[in-house]
Amino acid sequence: MMGSPTRVILGITGASGVLYGLRSLEKLVHLADEIQVIASANVQDIIRTELDDHAPTIEAFLEQLGSFKADVRVCNPKSYFEPPASGSYRHCGMLIAPCSMGTLGRIAAGTSDDLMCRAADVCLKERRKLVLLARETPLSLIHLRNMTAVTEAGAIVLPACPSFYHKPATLMDAIDTVVDRALAQLGLQTASKEWMK
Ligand SMILES: Cc1cc2nc3c(=O)[nH]c(=O)nc-3n(C[C@H](O)[C@H](O)[C@H](O)COP(=O)(O)O)c2cc1C
Repeated sequence: MMGSPTRVILGITGASGVLYGLRSLEKLVHLADEIQVIASANVQDIIRTELDDHAPTIEAFLEQLGSFKADVRVCNPKSYFEPPASGSYRHCGMLIAPCSMGTLGRIAAGTSDDLMCRAADVCLKERRKLVLLARETPLSLIHLRNMTAVTEAGAIVLPACPSFYHKPATLMDAIDTVVDRALAQLGLQTASKEWMK
C-alpha cells in the first residue's frame, strides 16, 4: 500500500550466530519504520557465550546503537498479546535470524506454541514473506524434511552460508553477505555489492 509504514518482524533464536540477528537489527532500524523483535529465551545465553557480553539483552543492544528512525518494540516471547500474533497486524514480512532447527521444526509442525512460532504461522497463513536464516551443520533427514515442509508452505530457507567472492575482510563483512541477502528477500535493499557490478 502506498505510503504505509514499512513494518518488519525480526525473530532471534538460540542457534549459534547471534550476530546474524543483531546485525539484521542494526540495519533494520535504518531501513524500516516499525520493528517487532521476538527473541527466544535462549538468546541471552548465546550472546553471553559468543560475544562475552555480560548485559546480553536486546534492549541494551538497541541503546548502544544510538539514534535511529525505526519504532522498535521488543515483544514478550511468551505472550500472544503482541501485534505479530495476529494476521490483522499488517507487515511486509518476518525474518528469523539465526533460526534454530528447534524453531524451524516447530514452524514446520505448526505448533504456534510461543509468539515466535505463532508469528511465523501467521506469515504462512496470510501468505506473507517468512525468511528463515537457518543455522545447523550437518543436517539430519529431520532437518531436511522440516525445511522442505516450510518451503512447501511458502517460507524461504536461507542458510547461514557466507559468500566469499567479494573477499570479505572482517567477520562482519562475511556476516553481511548473508544478512543483506536475507533483507533483500523482504524487499529491503542495503548497500551490498552485486556480482559483476
Ligand atoms: C552455544 C549454543 C549454540 C547452539 N547452536 C545451535 C545451532 O547452531 N543450531 C541449532 O539448531 N541449535 C543450536 N543450539 C541449540 C538451541 O539453542 C536449542 O535447540 C534451543 O532449544 C532452540 O530453541 P529456540 O529456537 O527457541 O531458541 C545451540 C545451543 C547453544 C547453547
